[in-house]
Amino acid sequence: MQVVAFLAMWSKEVEASPSSSTRWWSNSTVAIVTGANKGIGFALVKRLAELGLTVILTCRDVSRGHKAVQSLRAQGFHVDFFLLDVSDPASINTFASWFREKFGALDILVNNAAVSFNDIGKNSVEHAETVMKTNFYGSKLLTETLLPLFCRSVSKGRILNISSRLGLLNVSNSTVREILEDEEGLSEARIEEIVSWFLEDVKRGVWEEKGWPKLWTDYSVSKLALNAYSRLLANRYEGCGLSVNCFCPGFTQTAMTRGKGVHTAEAAAEIGAKLVLLPPGNLPTGKFYIGCNPFLYSKL
Ligand SMILES: NC(=O)c1ccc[n+]([C@@H]2O[C@H](COP(=O)([O-])OP(=O)(O)OC[C@H]3O[C@@H](n4cnc5c(N)ncnc54)[C@H](OP(=O)(O)O)[C@@H]3O)[C@@H](O)[C@H]2O)c1
Repeated sequence: MQVVAFLAMWSKEVEASPSSSTRWWSNSTVAIVTGANKGIGFALVKRLAELGLTVILTCRDVSRGHKAVQSLRAQGFHVDFFLLDVSDPASINTFASWFREKFGALDILVNNAAVSFNDIGKNSVEHAETVMKTNFYGSKLLTETLLPLFCRSVSKGRILNISSRLGLLNVSNSTVREILEDEEGLSEARIEEIVSWFLEDVKRGVWEEKGWPKLWTDYSVSKLALNAYSRLLANRYEGCGLSVNCFCPGFTQTAMTRGKGVHTAEAAAEIGAKLVLLPPGNLPTGKFYIGCNPFLYSKL
């Protein structure tokens, strides 16, 4: 988990535009994107549809979802839509049943939906429970529910968790670090234990002295947990036709950053799409991709 130095590996596969020689997918390749009514999720749906996949745009609000779908259809892209609030287990089950019935199998899941209640340069833990429930537990539960539906074909099933560099191991709490650095002993239960400790420290008003990340604290812990869970899954499914990676899009102009950022959601989505569509022969797992350019990656 410790990211001491990012390996500055210029990934030729990521850099290159999809060409006929690298194109392994078709219009029967199915991708789900969460939180896709706006921002990076919306841009990812558009890019994947543009590249010819069957894409399911999901979001937690019907009218926002319809509006997003209409705008894509007006630009000539056909995408499917289904309501999905990742923080609501019932919504996840309803979505999964619909998906199973309509598509049967899944190739790509992009866990993009997330919340942050922080302004740039500010920190708050007021909504810590919601942040954990959405960013970590929501992505985890959706993944667990959809895992049996993944195609384990030669092209491999792919999960891309949209994460953040804020979730890299910026924790000075030595117990938390030890647990997360323990490759052998890491488990879902241990990750959830860490999240519970954090929420307990927030409730008791002692989170500042307990060595949790100092910036966007609750959001950072949620992404820390998501990164750890991604690593766990990647190890578990290595060699079994499922790759699990994380991608930090960098400081991107979206609602989450109140429109601030160094690049657009489309630019971030362009790279996210390339990562999730890497050719099967060169598809890594358990990696954390960071930024837009150059493509640095490291072990989670
Ligand atoms: N922007 C950045 O600089 C940046 C940097 C690093 C990582 N990221 C990550 O990139 C991803 C996309 O963020 P963004 O920047 O595009 O932010 P955004 O524009 O705020 O989009 C977030 C999306 O998540 C949805 N969402 C929130 N709670 C949800 C729930 N319970 N169920 C389903 N959908 C839900 C939102 O829906 P509503 O419209 O209904 O709220 C929205 O569609 C996130 O994972 C974020 O952490 C962003």
